[in-house]
Amino acid sequence: MKTLVVLGAQWGDEGKGKVVDLLSEKADVIVRYQGGSNAGHTVVINDKKYVLHLIPSGILHKNKINIIGSGVVVEPEALIQEIKELKDKGIDCKGNLYISKRAHLIMPYHKIFDKESESKKGLKKIGTTGRGIGPTYVDKVARVGIRVCDLFEEEAFFRKIQENVAEANEIATKIFGLKPLDAEKIYNEYLDYGQVIKDFVCDTSYFINELWAKGKKIMMEGAQGTMLDVDHGTYPYVTSSNSTAGGACTGTGLSPKRIESITGVFKAYCTRVGSGPFPTELTDETGEMLRNRGSEFGATTGRPRRCGWFDVVAAKYSVMINGIDSISLTKLDVLSDLEDIYICDGYKYKNDILKTFPPELNIIENVTPVYKQFKGWKKDISQCRNYRELPDETKRYLDFIRNELSIDYALISVGSERNETIMMNSLF
Ligand code: GDP
Ligand code: IMO
Ligand code: MG
Repeated sequence: MKTLVVLGAQWGDEGKGKVVDLLSEKADVIVRYQGGSNAGHTVVINDKKYVLHLIPSGILHKNKINIIGSGVVVEPEALIQEIKELKDKGIDCKGNLYISKRAHLIMPYHKIFDKESESKKGLKKIGTTGRGIGPTYVDKVARVGIRVCDLFEEEAFFRKIQENVAEANEIATKIFGLKPLDAEKIYNEYLDYGQVIKDFVCDTSYFINELWAKGKKIMMEGAQGTMLDVDHGTYPYVTSSNSTAGGACTGTGLSPKRIESITGVFKAYCTRVGSGPFPTELTDETGEMLRNRGSEFGATTGRPRRCGWFDVVAAKYSVMINGIDSISLTKLDVLSDLEDIYICDGYKYKNDILKTFPPELNIIENVTPVYKQFKGWKKDISQCRNYRELPDETKRYLDFIRNELSIDYALISVGSERNETIMMNSLF
C-alpha cells in the first residue's frame, strides 16, 4: 500500500491527530488537504501534549516530509506561531515542512467577517471557530482570493490587497459599522510573514506527484469530519471545505486514481462542537460524564463538545460518501465505566424509521434515534493491546459496529498515547 487517506468520519475531533501520528511511523510523506487553523489535533507522546492546527501530525516523527496542500487555507501568523511552538518543544520544522504556493491566505478581514457575521446571526449562528475559514473559501470560489505564491510577487500582491481591502472596507463600514482597514499596513505585515515562511514554500502539487512516482508512502490527512463537509454534511451547519475523501485529491493535486486506501476515524461515541443537528446528543448526566471522561473540550476554542451515542446511520452514510475501507476506532476506553451503552441504528421520523441520513435540516433536527442497548464492560481496557484481551461485552459492541458498517477495524485506540492502541490490520 502506497497511499492512504485518514479522515474524520463523524463531526470532527474523532482523534485524527493520534491516528495520523501513529501511522506516520510507516509513512514517508504526510499531507494535510483542507481546512485551516479551525482544526485542533492533539497528540500525546510520553505525557507531552502537542496541539497542531495547520501542520500535519506527521511532524512529530523525525525525517518525514510534511506538506500543507493547496486545499488548505493558511493564516500566516498562526502558522508561524505553530512553527515556533513546535521549536520550543524541540521539533524543528526546517527541512520537514513544505507549504503549497497554491494554498489561499486567510487575511485579517476574513477573520473579522467570520466573527461579525456570526454575531449578526444570533440564534442561527453556526458556532464557527472564528478563524476566518468561511470568508477565505468564499473569496477563493469568487476568484478574488490571495494565495501563498502572491506573497512573493510584490507589485501584484499590493494591487490585490488594495482591491480586496477597498471592497472589504465597504462591508466593514457599511454593514458591520467598523473602522476601515489599512491596506498598506496589511501589505507590509504579510510581506514580513512571506519572508519568514519563504523557505517552506514550493509547488507541492509537483512535489507530491514526484514523491509518489518514486514509490514513497503518502498519507493524506483530513481535518474536521464528514458530517461537517460543505457538500455532504449537515448543511449549513458545516465548515467551508471538503473534508471527505474527494478533498484529498483536490486539496493535494494527487489524482483519484492514486488513492489506494481510506481509513475513517470514528470515535466510539459521537461529539460535535458548535451548532447544528446531532440526533444522538445526550443533554443529561450521561452526556456530561462522556464529556468529562473523554475530556471533550475543543482544542482550538476550548468550548465544551456536545456528546452522544455512536450513530450507525451517520456512520454508514460516511462509509458510503468516502468509500471508507477500514475503521480506526478511538476512545473506546472512555465508555468503560458505563452500566449500559447504546448505539443508534435508525431514526424515527413521524411514522417511519429512516435508515439513511436525510439532507433536509428540518427532518434531521426532528428525528428520534432508535437504539440498540449493550451491556457495559465496566473494566479498565486501557492496558489491552490485543483484541483477544478485550472483555466479551466490549467485543459485542465492536462486532455490532463492524457488522453494520461491513468493514473491518484497522486499529482500536484505548488511550491517547501511541502505545495505547490495538493494531488490527496493517495499513501501509
Ligand atoms: P482530532 O481533531 O480528530 O485530531 O481530535 P482531537 O485531538 O481534537 O480530539 C481527540 C482527543 O482525544 C485528543 O485530546 C486525543 O489526545 C484524545 N484521544 C485520542 N485517542 C484517544 C483514546 O483512544 N482514548 C482517550 N482517552 N483519548 C484519546
Ligand atoms: P478538527 O480537525 C470539530 C466546526 C465548528 C463549527 C463549524 C464551522 O479538530 O476535527 P469553521 O470555523 O470551520 O467555519 O466552523 O465547524 N469545526 C470543527 N468541529 N473539529 C474541528 O476540527 C472543527 N473545525 C471546525 O465548531 O461548528
Ligand atoms: Mg480536533
